[in-house]
Amino acid sequence: MGGQRNLDLGAALAEAEKRFVDAHPRSGRRHDAARKVMPGGNTRTVIYYPPFPVTIARGEGCHVWDLDGNRYTDFVAEYTAGLYGHSEPAIVEAVKEALSDGIVLGAPNRYEAELARLLVERFPALELVRFTNSGTESNLMAVSVARVFTGRSKVLVMKGGYHGGVFIFSGNGSPLNVPFPFLLADYNDVEGTRAMIRANADDLACVILEPMLGGGGCIPATVEFLGMLREETRKAGSLLVFDEVMTSRLSPSGLHGALGIVPDLVTLGKYLGGGLSFGAFGGAARIMERFDPARPDALAHAGTFNNNVLTMAAGLAGLTKVLTPERSIAFNAGGDALRQRMNAAIAKRGLRVHVSGRGSMMNVHFVRGPVNSPADSAGSSKDWLKLLQLEMLARGYYMTFRGMFVLSLPHGQAELDGFAAAFEGFLRRLRAAAGLIAGAGADTLRSGGATALDYGFVSER
Ligand SMILES: Cc1ncc(COP(=O)(O)O)c(C=O)c1O
Repeated sequence: MGGQRNLDLGAALAEAEKRFVDAHPRSGRRHDAARKVMPGGNTRTVIYYPPFPVTIARGEGCHVWDLDGNRYTDFVAEYTAGLYGHSEPAIVEAVKEALSDGIVLGAPNRYEAELARLLVERFPALELVRFTNSGTESNLMAVSVARVFTGRSKVLVMKGGYHGGVFIFSGNGSPLNVPFPFLLADYNDVEGTRAMIRANADDLACVILEPMLGGGGCIPATVEFLGMLREETRKAGSLLVFDEVMTSRLSPSGLHGALGIVPDLVTLGKYLGGGLSFGAFGGAARIMERFDPARPDALAHAGTFNNNVLTMAAGLAGLTKVLTPERSIAFNAGGDALRQRMNAAIAKRGLRVHVSGRGSMMNVHFVRGPVNSPADSAGSSKDWLKLLQLEMLARGYYMTFRGMFVLSLPHGQAELDGFAAAFEGFLRRLRAAAGLIAGAGADTLRSGGATALDYGFVSER
């Protein structure tokens, strides 16, 4: 045994990074080669983390293997798009069958209206729906149609929100955001947001938000907040748009169905294409029927791959053969139990750490909970999140660098227990920076003790 050593965060991170680099020589070389032809070796910002991301060579069920031969239980789950796991037989079969009938048919096919019918049946806000290729496109269409439908320009969004690569509202936003006149509200701030809607009522086209922030930290909205938005947008003549690209997985009828709040438009994406490129937007017929191409005043909505047969067939197989309402409920209950177990382990040690989320989507924050808005999590150290990721990878659990982790259907109780045990192993090694090891077990870190940033970490190597 290498014995135990006390490290401060910087030293713990340096040690974990070195171990990571040593364990992933092939991923490192692939990244170096990629850097020659792609900026930073990357074509999708979220999957980059320093010093380089592991290259995943293949996946099966809820496991992935990297280029270096390491096996992980997958808790990235393709940022919620991987709900079905990597090899669900019903989806593989459906894609093979669709492939064998020709890939680019250039016409309506036999799948798309069936998939649309299932979505309309499942999600209360959907009377009519159209498909796109991504969640980003769905949000572009939803916000654009809200502006046309209302004849107004402003779009109210949430600080810390994310609706795609041109709708980034964390930090200082992004210079690449679409040039709409955005108003930024604080998530779950009932009175502040109400006042903002009222003050801008004349020219407010829509309010768009996730009913639980996903990428923004898995922070659920309160029913009071969403109810206020429903009431005030109606009074203002603005549309309420729920981005359920991630959150629609949280109940058989989406999060809006579970909460009983019906927005005017909903955007969808991720897992609903069975794991293939997917997006959809829809809602009230009075709005969506403007896209009927037979109308003289029809709004055009184009997209070569909107109804691509592989996605349509995979999405249809997923909803008809795999994700039954009963399975969706049990799946999300498994996530709730895991989160409660993790928070109980945190509470037992009195640590300033919190796991937020709902159902099958969660996020670790290095602050004391509850976390009701991104501002509540602002003190959560990125370095601690990074150390957590590296430590979980070293224990065989693949999770994101920002503390988000997501379940997929093939996760069994053994995988959930293993993840919780690995997390508890991480917590056991947190120490008050001042007390460190000698005699000072983590139990000495009671409330009012060290802040998250004061913690040290016990190296066991
Ligand atoms: C809430 C939300 N909306 C929209 C998007 C964009 O979807 P896509 O990556 O398919 O463009 C994402 C992607 O992570 C998302 O989480």
